[in-house]
Amino acid sequence: MSRLDGKHVLVTGAGRGIGLATVAACLDAGARVLATDLAPKPGEALQALIDRDLPVDYRQQDVTREADWAAIAAHVEQHCGGVLDVVVNNAGIALMGTVEDTALGDWQRTLDVNLTGVFLGTKTAVRLMRARGGSIINVSSIEAMIGEPLVAAYNASKGGVRTFTKSAAVHCARQGYGIRVNSIHPGFTDTALVSGAVATLTPDRAADFVGDVMRRIPMGRLARPEEIARPIVFLASDDASYMTGAELVVDGGHLA
Ligand SMILES: NC(=O)c1ccc[n+]([C@@H]2O[C@H](COP(=O)([O-])OP(=O)(O)OC[C@H]3O[C@@H](n4cnc5c(N)ncnc54)[C@H](O)[C@@H]3O)[C@@H](O)[C@H]2O)c1
Repeated sequence: MSRLDGKHVLVTGAGRGIGLATVAACLDAGARVLATDLAPKPGEALQALIDRDLPVDYRQQDVTREADWAAIAAHVEQHCGGVLDVVVNNAGIALMGTVEDTALGDWQRTLDVNLTGVFLGTKTAVRLMRARGGSIINVSSIEAMIGEPLVAAYNASKGGVRTFTKSAAVHCARQGYGIRVNSIHPGFTDTALVSGAVATLTPDRAADFVGDVMRRIPMGRLARPEEIARPIVFLASDDASYMTGAELVVDGGHLA
């Protein structure tokens, strides 16, 4: 198992799903974790980790707000000696809609959270990491690589994360910062993001969508959040020391 002993890790969107599993996997790997999400207080699952005296702290953060990123940077300066080794830009949303029926507001909200949030997180991380290096993992999706008619805005946002990650990776490498920047591309994962998005469809459309997705996954099942979290720990660790600008697909064979 890849190790993160003593490393300071920030995970956004950490209240549930892949983010929560990533917090747990990083703690298992020996990291100290700063977990952030929209809610003012940690949810039950995060609170349970805090109550076990594990090295995890919680801060409220909306990843779309530059002021919230400034507050996180100030927290890192004041409470972690300015040290941040790993940032996992995980927060994301999925709103269903084709090119024809996606409202402009939904399009903009999706790009704000999924793409602008990753931009602000990467920018903040580079500033904090450039003196001593680090690893940034941007959570994209297989939806960055294929067109899924029902998630037009999500496709666009995750495709943006995929290429933006390479831009930042090449910049950091050429500057000699010792910062690696990679994207991870989960396939369909059993979280509230998927069940919540499917629930907005009519029953017939939902059944068609789910049936179609399941037929396309050779392993025949969704991923469990921890099956995405462990590859994130790998990218964060020194085991991935020669990986930057790379895309790690974790999808049960979906794209194959
Ligand atoms: N579940 C999947 O099938 C799947 C597949 C590929 C990629 N992903 C990506 O993985 C990431 C995590 O997804 P998940 O399935 O765990 O979703 P989830 O809905 O279970 O969790 C997402 C978390 O992000 C938080 N969040 C939303 N908007 C935010 C904002 N503006 N600022 C801060 N936090 C915010 C939510 O409060 C929530 O806790 C997302 O980027 C998602 O796009 C998920």
